[in-house]
Amino acid sequence: MRQLSMTVLIAGGSSGLRACALALALTLPSLVRGANAPELPLHADRASTLDLAVTGLLAGAEPGVTRYVRWADVARLPQAKLQLTGEFGPGEQEVTVVFLSDLWAALPVLPDADTLLATCTDGYAGVYPTTFIRDYRPFLILEINGQGPGNWPPPGLRFNPGPYVISVAASVVPAVAELVDAGHKRPWGVTTLNFAPAERAFGALYRGPWSAPAELVSQGREIWIHSCTSCHRGPEDTFGGTKGDRPFAALAALARYAPDYFRRYVTNPKGMVPTAKMEAHPHYTTAQLDALVAFVSLGAPP
Ligand code: HEC
Repeated sequence: MRQLSMTVLIAGGSSGLRACALALALTLPSLVRGANAPELPLHADRASTLDLAVTGLLAGAEPGVTRYVRWADVARLPQAKLQLTGEFGPGEQEVTVVFLSDLWAALPVLPDADTLLATCTDGYAGVYPTTFIRDYRPFLILEINGQGPGNWPPPGLRFNPGPYVISVAASVVPAVAELVDAGHKRPWGVTTLNFAPAERAFGALYRGPWSAPAELVSQGREIWIHSCTSCHRGPEDTFGGTKGDRPFAALAALARYAPDYFRRYVTNPKGMVPTAKMEAHPHYTTAQLDALVAFVSLGAPP
């Protein structure tokens, strides 16, 4: 698939030519589908709430344009059945999944994209760099106990996790058990996948006050990207979810001027403010909280 993107880029020296070739690819996927061609037809319009929206660096789509993949087309990719425990309520559930690596390979993702950013119906977000996709093999859940999202939520669940859920499992890759924030790699209600360069999504976290190399700061940045980004946007145009409705500068001011409060809030928000909606992070070590404070506080107004 990478090869197709490359071919397209080389062949389409003028963007007009490229757009033309890809318009053809969009309307007549069966005609142009060769050994290296994307398997998933992209549609300009949404036909169902179960369509998967894809955006970002996709051949044939201008920046900012969203295309739609039909659930049934995603379901034609190689599937696996996994037994998960407690993923959707108590007990075991058998889920039918497609690995993100296969989904990525079946889409016309351009070579500069190295991060998959998932966004959800409720403003939650998940971040999957290609290295993470390779090492931890996250997957998209298409069915729970043989039922597709049209029949969700499954019995016992009040909240509909559809249209898509992304998850990771230690039964697939044992190292998942050692992830600090595996919970943040399991978003529900996923609607949109954005194929982005990390430089565009997170570049601001390496510039300005964050440009000086410092071990503690870079550890804090890792935690920020793989955890806090689920609900909070970073400085400037940094990618992040929108559930945490506080501006980054407000979080940074707390980290800088009230670090004890910041630490206790991150660990157990409800213990500080009973009405808090933020999820708790009781598993963070003192060293991890030190790193977060070091990283976030650099964004404080002087
Ligand atoms: C599930 C979503 C979610 C995640 C994940 C999350 N937050 Fe929050 N955060 C919120 C929300 C929502 C608020 C607004 C206050 C509230 O309802 O808790 C908030 C508020 C805050 C505040 C301000 C508290 C105050 O008194 O104003 C800080 C500091 C903060 N978050 C830090 C973090 C850090 C650091 C992380 C990563 C370790 C993080 N948050 C992860 C949702 C989240």
